[in-house]
Amino acid sequence: MVSLPDVVASNARIPTTLPRNLVVVFAGATTGIGEATLKAFVKYAVAPRIYFLARSPESANRVAEECKLTNPQANFTIIKVDLSTVMQTDRACDEIKAKEKHVNLVVTSAGEVRLDLSPEGLHIALAAAFYTRIRIAQNLLPLLVAASKSSTLARVVNVAGGTKEGQIFTDDLPGLKRPLYRIRGHIISMTTLAMETLSEQAPGVAFVHDYPGTVMTPLVDGVPGWVGICLRLVAFILGGLLARWVCVPIEECGERHVFLGTSAKYPPKQGAAVGVPTLGDVKATNGVDGAKNSGMYSVAWDCEDREKVVEILDGLRKKGTKELVWDHVNGEFERIKAGKGVDE
Ligand SMILES: NC(=O)c1ccc[n+]([C@@H]2O[C@H](COP(=O)([O-])OP(=O)(O)OC[C@H]3O[C@@H](n4cnc5c(N)ncnc54)[C@H](OP(=O)(O)O)[C@@H]3O)[C@@H](O)[C@H]2O)c1
Repeated sequence: MVSLPDVVASNARIPTTLPRNLVVVFAGATTGIGEATLKAFVKYAVAPRIYFLARSPESANRVAEECKLTNPQANFTIIKVDLSTVMQTDRACDEIKAKEKHVNLVVTSAGEVRLDLSPEGLHIALAAAFYTRIRIAQNLLPLLVAASKSSTLARVVNVAGGTKEGQIFTDDLPGLKRPLYRIRGHIISMTTLAMETLSEQAPGVAFVHDYPGTVMTPLVDGVPGWVGICLRLVAFILGGLLARWVCVPIEECGERHVFLGTSAKYPPKQGAAVGVPTLGDVKATNGVDGAKNSGMYSVAWDCEDREKVVEILDGLRKKGTKELVWDHVNGEFERIKAGKGVDE
């Protein structure tokens, strides 16, 4: 486990070890883990340029104004986008590409617990939590690669379920046939494998997929029906009665995600964009192929990898599931761009 003092000590070196004017994209930072990460990040970064992707510009503006109280030099561009749609996500990325030649860091954390279909025919819970996150990284990959050649930071952090990988249902890659609770490991493995494919395309860029732990946020506030009642009851028990033992405090979670986004504990496979050099006991972690300097990391709330992940992913790779996942994701993007429904 990386201790919180080690996390904070590394983050405190951001102003002296990373360049000023880092270009950073946050998608899903109006509440919860994204908001805590953004607020922690602006404490340390010198004059960052932040692109803030949000469906509610008012909420994004509130967070940006609060950030500016800590760091008046932080520059914000708010882009209104419903991250459950691929088409809107593409337009948001186009706006960034029109303004920037490089992007140093992408932090994706948008998601909500919903059970219906998106207008584009995707499982709506997976639309923002999986498909458009991969799309953002894919769209911005040339800018991340540019950062990897000119800067000391080029990284993607995806806040979801790293280290909780499970079997993939190849008969139902879109996850439409089984209840949400059964496809958790499925979608987490799809995420890790899709990110691994991106990391192979851009070996100078580091990719981190993490599980944040149990963090009290508004994630389950709006979930309808009995599912919502049950989830809120669990949240009440965990967050109210057992918080001290079970939950990661939101400020700690924010600091840990800044660490994931900047520490040289998670270096790319190649190149010099390694981030803040590690100190003391903090050592480079193993990637999803079991190697150091892997460029693709699946880590838990404590910022460390778990050995079992390598074995699970190895089994999936041997069956050709990584390629299946990549073809599926890109097939969905192509279908949506062509304006076709699921069965067309
Ligand atoms: N909290 C936990 O214990 C926990 C544990 C494991 C994994 N996670 C994962 O971590 C991620 C972040 O969770 P969180 O707890 O921080 O949740 P949260 O507080 O509910 O934050 C979710 C963020 O996503 C945004 N969002 C959701 N749907 C969107 C859409 N269609 N378009 C644009 N923005 C959208 C929300 O914006 P609005 O303000 O507009 O709603 C909000 O900024 C999620 O993927 C969650 O599954 C969380």
